[in-house]
Amino acid sequence: MPDMDNFKEAEAFGIDTPQKTIGFPLKGCSNLDWGMKNRLARIFSPKDGRSLMLACDHGFIMGPTGGVERIDLSIVPLLKYADCLMCTRGVLRAVIPPTQDIPVCLRSDAGTSVTTELNDNVVIDVQDAIRVNAAAMAVMVAVGDAATEAKTVANLYHAVDVGQRYGIPVMGVTAVGKQMTRDARYFRLATRICAENGANIVKTYYTEGFETVVAACPVPIVIAGGKKVPERDALELAYRAISEGAAGVDMGRNVFQSTNPAAMIRAVGAVIHRGFKPDEAYQMFQDLSASK
Ligand code: 5RP
Repeated sequence: MPDMDNFKEAEAFGIDTPQKTIGFPLKGCSNLDWGMKNRLARIFSPKDGRSLMLACDHGFIMGPTGGVERIDLSIVPLLKYADCLMCTRGVLRAVIPPTQDIPVCLRSDAGTSVTTELNDNVVIDVQDAIRVNAAAMAVMVAVGDAATEAKTVANLYHAVDVGQRYGIPVMGVTAVGKQMTRDARYFRLATRICAENGANIVKTYYTEGFETVVAACPVPIVIAGGKKVPERDALELAYRAISEGAAGVDMGRNVFQSTNPAAMIRAVGAVIHRGFKPDEAYQMFQDLSASK
């Protein structure tokens, strides 16, 4: 471990000089193998390098909370609007039709619900991820949590080892405990630790100074939506994240807890792939809601 005394505060983010990509639309992915790129190209549109991922893995920690009580009723009808589904293998096998043409980012760490997200998770067998044809494996990393950081970082690099072996990209998911400050400095640390340990995609949260988080992370970032907020605010969040360099969103509650989830996911999709500004997207949401 380098001596942290007198470390220079990070500042040279080169915001105006995006990291170069060569022959592949996702940053940091040019040198990956064919199978890895092929799976990433199923998740992120090759046209714009962006993705609208729909997250519904909440039940594995929270149980049947609002919006995921009946995934067959609430989530399955939305799949046609999403680029990727993030869920657990239990829900995938039990509820998601295998005929549905959607890549799956498989929640690949499993554990108890005790102490919310910062728990004692272990990574599932990669053979099971292959069996369900996962396009990516998602593993949570609790940077800064003394009790679980080492275990979760080990989970990540184990997933990366097996993912590299079989050509399956790994998404590092930055968990945020209540004691951690949700600022750009923290998210730069957490996302960079995921990337340095081999994550091919990093999922994190939007924050002020987000463009520095993106710039300092050498692989694509997608943001979680977080707690339910009014639809206009969630669209603004998605817009800001994309404008400041995110490759997409992996949104859950702000879609499936919306007053009109189908209208909401289509409006989020317009922000991500069609360059809609928040007001335009919110108008779209209202129009679709009115015409239902
Ligand atoms: C955290 C996750 C969840 O899928 C994510 O937080 C869900 O999205 P949202 O915050 O938008 O409901 O990866 O472990």
